[in-house]
Amino acid sequence: MRKAIYPGSFDPVTYGHIDIIERARRTFDHLIVSVAVNPHKTPLFTLAERMEMLQEVCCGMDNVTVDSFTGLLVRYAEQKDAQVIIRGLRAVSDFEYEFQMALMNRTIDPAIETVFMMTNSDYSFLSSSIVQEVARLGGPIQGLVTPTIERRLREKLNQ
Ligand code: COA
Repeated sequence: MRKAIYPGSFDPVTYGHIDIIERARRTFDHLIVSVAVNPHKTPLFTLAERMEMLQEVCCGMDNVTVDSFTGLLVRYAEQKDAQVIIRGLRAVSDFEYEFQMALMNRTIDPAIETVFMMTNSDYSFLSSSIVQEVARLGGPIQGLVTPTIERRLREKLNQ
């Protein structure tokens, strides 16, 4: 069984992520979308909220599970018996950081392959923090996140 992991902060999940999830789940037998607990980032949404939003988005995708992890991604992939790490590439600016991570991960475990998917051009400008910022300033975010996530985001920012 070809099992892949799609890791990220998902703070919150956007249509750009959903596009990658849809394509990755068609390419692999099983996809684990996993929220990384990253000590270098201060997320807007808690880990439980980010996982809940992903679960809503992935509801009905029978070969997708939502999970979270701490520590080294490669060690987590080994524990989950996954052979592949999926990353989305939005622009050339992503390349250097992703290249460094992929090579580091390969150094730790050469059996785990990183597969890059080119983001849909409609979403190549998108990031979770830019969506947060536009919402915070009262701008439109329809078409960038699902209506449910838009509502959650507005509620969160009003707290
Ligand atoms: N559509 C929209 N946005 C996208 C996107 C897409 N297809 N792909 C990436 N992004 C955005 C994310 O929303 C995020 O935006 P933000 O910074 O505004 O929150 C940004 O790009 C970064 O992407 P993300 O996938 O969340 O990466 P990350 O840099 O937060 O985390 C991990 C990457 C989790 C894979 C990495 O930190 C990791 O492996 N951590 C575990 C520790 C480890 O093993 N370290 C050694 C690695 S060599």
